[in-house]
Amino acid sequence: MIRYMGRSAKILGTSKYIPEKIMTNKDFEKIVETNDQWIIERTGICKRHFALDDEKCSDLAYRAAVLALEDSGLTADQIDMILVGTNSPDTVFPSVSCKVQGMLKAVNSGAIDIQAGCTGSLTALSVAASGISSGIWNNVLVIGAEVFRDIIDWTDRGTCILFGDGAGACVVGVSDSDGGFASTRLLADGTGHEMIRLESDEEHVTPVVRMKGNEVFKFVNTVMPKFIKGFCKDSGVAPEEIDFWIFHQANTRIIDGVFKRLNVSQEKTLTNLSEYGNTSAASLMITLHEAMESEKIKSGDKVCFVAFGAGMTLGALLYQA
Ligand code: COA
Repeated sequence: MIRYMGRSAKILGTSKYIPEKIMTNKDFEKIVETNDQWIIERTGICKRHFALDDEKCSDLAYRAAVLALEDSGLTADQIDMILVGTNSPDTVFPSVSCKVQGMLKAVNSGAIDIQAGCTGSLTALSVAASGISSGIWNNVLVIGAEVFRDIIDWTDRGTCILFGDGAGACVVGVSDSDGGFASTRLLADGTGHEMIRLESDEEHVTPVVRMKGNEVFKFVNTVMPKFIKGFCKDSGVAPEEIDFWIFHQANTRIIDGVFKRLNVSQEKTLTNLSEYGNTSAASLMITLHEAMESEKIKSGDKVCFVAFGAGMTLGALLYQA
């Protein structure tokens, strides 16, 4: 059973916070052997943003949280739980979510970080909807935030050009109206844990991202279309009936490939890779905010969220706006 059976949970507000510092493909040409054309053709990325030296993951998460609360019309004391999807917390503990809870003075809230690779904020959204549907929470603040600046190997051209920093957030609350989160599925395949990992070696005492890019590419293109088709079938909806897709922004070629296999038009999604690169767990939340802000999602629309990431992890969520 993948359907939410209880109360309706709806998105009440969204936000993004994008740090000011920008690195273009041309900037990378100066530090590794690469070129603008190669990066654009293989990934769709033109630039990405990075946190300033004194900005940590919790700072980005807090800024996005304030904006999402403002958009929702709720105050911090009305939040029951803060869930943060991140792979680049300030420190392993205390959690980013606890720091944000303190900064917001969300005095009635708990706080949990969720580490599920780039599927982190989808997982958080899925948990938020579960908590609201079951009745244990009324309002949940979901944040995706990353500062990859410190975990990138700036000499590895296969990974350093891919990632960027940023944060996005949304407030999910109980709703009397129709729609809301309808179903969810979270899957893992830990046999693929070596495909994307954080690792230290003689040169890097602080662990950095290591990735078998080609294997990830093949894995996602093989597994995702089947996963999404199965999820849609079990949710009682055909892929072509989905009005809008919020897809994890890893690579435009991956998004194009999966959509082609699903026979879904590119017009039913939004890509922002050219502007931000892969912001990992933040990407889904940033994309959600941009889709809401540009009114690409209309009341009554069926929206499917899809993400994949290190682990390997996979996730999908069906939502009616
Ligand atoms: N600039 C120029 N050349 C590069 C390069 C760069 N930034 N990075 C790698 N190359 C080179 C490789 O060294 C290789 O050269 P060789 O043939 O002389 O050995 C060549 O390009 C092809 O490498 P390959 O890894 O096969 O390229 P690719 O087409 O698979 O593209 C990725 C590489 C990383 C863009 C692609 O594999 C990818 O996007 N994978 C998915 C990654 C992802 O989404 N991760 C996050 C998941 S949440």
